[in-house]
Amino acid sequence: MKIVTVIGARPQIIKAAALSRAIRNHYSNQIQEVIVHTGQHYDENMSQVFFDELDIPRPDYNLHVGSASHGVQTARMTEGIEAILIKECPDFLVLYGDTNSTLAGAVAAAKIHVPIVHIEAGLRSFNKAMPEEINRIVCDHCSTLLFTPTKAGLENLKREGFSFDEGGVSTGSTTATPTIDNPKVWHCGDIMYDNSLHFADIAEAKTDIIKRLNLSGMPFVLATIHRDSNTDQPERLNAIFGALIQIADKTPIVLPLHPRTDKLLKTNLKPELQNQLFNTPNIHIIPPVSFLEMIALERHAQLVMTDSGGVQKEAYFFGKPCIILRPETEWVEIVETGNAVLADADETRILEAWRHFVAHPPTAFPKIFGDGHAAEFMLEKIISSKVL
Ligand code: UD1
Ligand code: UDP
Repeated sequence: MKIVTVIGARPQIIKAAALSRAIRNHYSNQIQEVIVHTGQHYDENMSQVFFDELDIPRPDYNLHVGSASHGVQTARMTEGIEAILIKECPDFLVLYGDTNSTLAGAVAAAKIHVPIVHIEAGLRSFNKAMPEEINRIVCDHCSTLLFTPTKAGLENLKREGFSFDEGGVSTGSTTATPTIDNPKVWHCGDIMYDNSLHFADIAEAKTDIIKRLNLSGMPFVLATIHRDSNTDQPERLNAIFGALIQIADKTPIVLPLHPRTDKLLKTNLKPELQNQLFNTPNIHIIPPVSFLEMIALERHAQLVMTDSGGVQKEAYFFGKPCIILRPETEWVEIVETGNAVLADADETRILEAWRHFVAHPPTAFPKIFGDGHAAEFMLEKIISSKVL
């Protein structure tokens, strides 16, 4: 069987590592994977570093679309992906998550009748002002095989009309071949969890970032910020950084800076905050780090503050409390268990959440993201769903 996998943004490249590894280790005689990189992320530290470090096969195609407005970027990707699908004639197109690369793959494949596998299906923020919410809804409704990492994802799909058999794991008829009009849904655990388990000890052995930052044995806060709703709205960006600067009075902060945030800090952060930010020795502003460095930082941090979907979950995987810098999350379970708090971009709520978690660090992190073998589960289902 042949699958084409589309990746483009940092988290998709990382997720693809888990599936490619499982194909290499268990299914190389059954599945040929063709990788298409849209070029949505292109800086060395947003793309190539992950291929080098995580043993991901070199992409067979790179569309080099780069940065542009949503419409332009998505259109360029759609055109390129369509041409590749026509040439390669795969059995399935595999798409991850909710970026513009996901949307482009979904539109290109659905229109020319290539069945889509959506990994990370069913997640919803119920906030359509987020570009990702549009992308994930479109992709889910164009897909033939949907793999949801959480029970909340399964429930969301049910609400949107995906019908389920008794076991609550598949839609439509269990005997009929799955199609775009008779899709199948599985709750299978989180592919990011596969990666975190696989790379945790490797990260410990291969990275020295904690030592390099002089943070060995010290509590510190790990922060990441990149959502357009935070970077592009000066009021929100100033509130978040106002809180960070106050926290830095007590605890060092490590902030690997996304290129979007790097660019917008200069225009959207008040000059006095910029001055404080860049002159507070307790705040380590560093370029984006590799995945192994990131999970080393997550493992050693006292607490994580983030608006990233992936980083929220990884905080949970490594037993760390998380302050979510958004009004809502798709990963509702981590809030429901009390291990994360939605503080939005509200300075007071961020500081309250930080005080709360420092005084009462959570200790119970129930296993809700699977068993670390989501990739193998999905590949079994993909193989058995092939139209003969
Ligand atoms: C994208 C995804 C978002 C995901 C994030 C992961 C969409 C709509 N958004 O957001 O869901 O959480 O990736 O990181 O698909 N830039 C560079 N170098 C790069 C890449 C980007 O400088 O290698 C800068 C450019 O100025 C660009 C900006 O970052 O305009 C935003 O990049 P883009 O890929 O459009 O969106 P992200 O914010 O990265
Ligand atoms: N990540 C990384 N280096 C960084 C920041 C994040 O390797 O400097 C990893 C992180 O560990 C997670 C993924 O990138 O696996 C999350 O990507 P991001 O926050 O860009 O996007 P989101 O998950 O919000 O879509």
